[in-house]
Amino acid sequence: MAPHPKRLIVTIDGPAGTGKSAVSGLLADRLGVQCLDTGAMYRSVALLAIRAEADPGDAESLLRLIDRHDIGFDWTQRPPVATIDGSPVEASIRDAEVGRVVSIVAAVPAVRAALVEAQRCIAAERLQLVSEGRDQGSVVFPDAEVRFFLTADPGVRVGRRVMQLQQAGREVDPQAVRAEIDTRDAIDSSRSVGPLMCPEGAIEIDTSALTLDEVVDRLEQEVRSTVADRVRPSC
Ligand code: DC
Repeated sequence: MAPHPKRLIVTIDGPAGTGKSAVSGLLADRLGVQCLDTGAMYRSVALLAIRAEADPGDAESLLRLIDRHDIGFDWTQRPPVATIDGSPVEASIRDAEVGRVVSIVAAVPAVRAALVEAQRCIAAERLQLVSEGRDQGSVVFPDAEVRFFLTADPGVRVGRRVMQLQQAGREVDPQAVRAEIDTRDAIDSSRSVGPLMCPEGAIEIDTSALTLDEVVDRLEQEVRSTVADRVRPSC
C-alpha cells in the first residue's frame, strides 16, 4: 500500500551523547510534529524488569512484562512523557540502575521485535513523527522520508551527558559516565539484531563542533528541502 501523502517520518539515530533527544524535540517543535523517544521504551522495559526482579536477559520474562503492562507515552505533553500503565515514569527510567541494565534488555531479539512493532503502530497513528533511537532508520523505518545519523567525538559526548545529568540535579563522576557510555556503545553496536549503525543512505552529521541550534538548523533545512509540501511553513 502506498504511504499516506502527508506521512512524514524523520529518523534520528546515533550513540549516547550525540544530542539526539534534545535535537529531536526541537526539530519536532519546528516542524509542528510529535517526537518519539524509543530509548524511553527500552528503558521502561528495563524498569519493569528491575521492579519485578526479573533477569534482564531472559526473553520470556521480559515478554511477559511487556504483555502485562502498557508501555506508552502521554502525548498531551511536549515532548511526550514516558508512561507505564498510564503513570509517568520519566524520572525512574533515567535512574543509574536502569542505565546499567537497559543495553542487556535492548539486546534481546524478542524485546526488539515487540518494541519495533509498537513503534510502527505509534507512527501509523501519528502520521508525522521525528523518531529517535539506534535502529530507527535502519530497521524500524527504512522507508522514512528523511533519515539522519548523528555522531560526536567520545570526549564531547561524555561532556554532554555529564552536563545533562548535572542539570537534572544528579551527582556525576565523569569517569563513570565515560565507562557507562563505552560499555553501552559496545553492547549496542555488537548485538545481532538492530545494532547501532549508520543506515545506508542516511545523512551523517558530526555534531562535535556544533551548538544544539546549529544541529537543529541543519536538520530542519534538510527536511524542508526534501519534503517541503508535507511540513508547515517555518515561522
Ligand atoms: O537513548 P537512550 O540512552 O535512552 O537509550 C537507552 C538504551 O536503549 C541504549 O542502551 C540503547 C537502547 N536503544 C536501542 O537499542 N534501540 C533504540 N531504538 C533506542 C534505544
